[in-house]
Amino acid sequence: MLLKSNQFYDLLSSDFDLMISWEKRLKVEAPFFEKIFRENKVKKILDLACGTGKHSIFFAKCGYEVTGVDNSRKMIEIAKKSTRGLYTVKFIKANFLVVYPRVKEKFDAIICLGNSLPHLLSKNALRKTLQNIGKLLNPEGIVIFQNRNYDKILSQNLRFMSPNITFRKNERIIFFRVLDFCKNKIIFNLVTYREKGGVWSFQTKSTFLRPIMVKEIEGILRILNFTDLKFFGDYKSNPYRKKTSEDLILFARKG
Ligand SMILES: C[S@@+](CC[C@H](N)C(=O)[O-])C[C@H]1O[C@@H](n2cnc3c(N)ncnc32)[C@H](O)[C@@H]1O
Repeated sequence: MLLKSNQFYDLLSSDFDLMISWEKRLKVEAPFFEKIFRENKVKKILDLACGTGKHSIFFAKCGYEVTGVDNSRKMIEIAKKSTRGLYTVKFIKANFLVVYPRVKEKFDAIICLGNSLPHLLSKNALRKTLQNIGKLLNPEGIVIFQNRNYDKILSQNLRFMSPNITFRKNERIIFFRVLDFCKNKIIFNLVTYREKGGVWSFQTKSTFLRPIMVKEIEGILRILNFTDLKFFGDYKSNPYRKKTSEDLILFARKG
């Protein structure tokens, strides 16, 4: 079933946090962000494509004022339920394309993590989103994107990702991600296998992605007058290498 991204994440929402070892992930990512936020005197953060709000809530607990935005109604519902009275975080349902002017405040930092930008299916949509990010940033404000390394994925035809295996109550769940390459798009297939009492079932959800190459996003950011661009290949701040890095983590500053 090929779904729009908001339908895909609405359907995935109740399983989403099972696919990720959040404690492990945040332990790896937090020092990277904390250093950058400290160096740039960040107080207010926009978590764009916040999903179930794990980063937003984590940073709010660290003392930042955080707004999380996502286009999936169900992901936002889960995020809102998870705040448990924490008053330094709020969540808003909005699409990348209308986040400005739907969100009226300005931020010191915007983060857009977890390979969210490739859900934009045209160069125009990417340009418009990066423009919106510029409008939502304070002067000298910063943005950090984390996407998969599509320079490597496409050149090496990397179709499969390692499966995640998890347990919920008396159910075993395996998430298996497969990419189908078609022209300038990718079909992202998520196959979920479930085993309960020895009986297996599976379901497939698919949505389009548009791979973002470093050259493209760098070009647009420069046209939009972003400065101070830095390209990392991981959260240890190792440099981005097209052939080997897992991820493209991109830092830019509003010019
Ligand atoms: C893989 S999840 C990443 C969630 C979270 N940022 C993380 O790092 O785990 C991608 C998120 O992007 C959101 N998304 C996709 N297209 C979007 C759009 N056009 N506008 C806003 N959010 C979008 C989805 O709803 C989903 O929550």
